[in-house]
Amino acid sequence: MARIIGGIASTHVPAIGKAIAEKKQNDPYWKPFFKGFDYVHYWLAREKPDVAVVFYNDHGLNFFLDKLPTFAVGAASEYRNEDEGWGIPVSRSVPGDPALSWHLINALVGDGFDITMCQDMLIDHAVTIPMTLMWPGQRWPVKIVPVSINTVQHPLPSLARCLALGRSIGRALESYQQDLRVLIIGTGGLSHQLDGERAGFINKEFDELCLDKIVNDPEALTRYSIHDWVELAGAQGVEFLNWMAMRGALTGQVTQVHRNYHIPISNTAAATIVLENAGTAARHAA
Ligand code: DHB
Ligand code: FE
Repeated sequence: MARIIGGIASTHVPAIGKAIAEKKQNDPYWKPFFKGFDYVHYWLAREKPDVAVVFYNDHGLNFFLDKLPTFAVGAASEYRNEDEGWGIPVSRSVPGDPALSWHLINALVGDGFDITMCQDMLIDHAVTIPMTLMWPGQRWPVKIVPVSINTVQHPLPSLARCLALGRSIGRALESYQQDLRVLIIGTGGLSHQLDGERAGFINKEFDELCLDKIVNDPEALTRYSIHDWVELAGAQGVEFLNWMAMRGALTGQVTQVHRNYHIPISNTAAATIVLENAGTAARHAA
């Protein structure tokens, strides 16, 4: 049976890719951010996931404003990156797991999520930057199922809906027959706004509330509307929807084993968390 080992959430700012290409990890600006990944590397080396479900938002590489699904699930055997114009190296491709993708798609549709299924899907910096941070300088040891959530063109799905999406995927993973160690990834955030009068907006107090609630009380965050969220976290702070879905997919007893928060990285409040998930089997054994 598949086992959900835990979740990692990470900022996906493209400038991180440039810093890596220019080997700036130890520069004073970057060090407090990159140091926050030491524990992530230790944890991943110990936990050895086989596959990762990645909740992220596409920024115009695969979907554009003309056709923008609310939820899209990849069902490809490989996902390619392309130049998005950020001046960062094009990333290597990531292998997919079509059998697992179709299992999740069937379960989601069965649960009433009218998702878009993508047998061909480009992945942008919102997938490649967090993966590069998690497994630097090595071949990525996981296959992925990318799940794209619209955080770009309003109306966006609610926080409650994204939590429910994650829960549906979590239940589907627990019923998957293959012995797989599954990692759940959520990318983006925390507070940031890239354009308009409030460009550069960051809200540390609200970020701290989110970091606390996402661990033990994600339901508490569902009382905020998307418009509340834009006001409190900035126009791009809504990328937190990916964190909500990640948290929803953690079905068991969740423990935060690592957290790093550093402002700013580019225009963004950069945050990294690692959540362990004591799943059903582990709970029964205890
Ligand atoms: C930045 C943040 C993002 O989430 C993104 O997708 C692109 C850029 C930034 O802070 O520069
Ligand atoms: Fe983004």
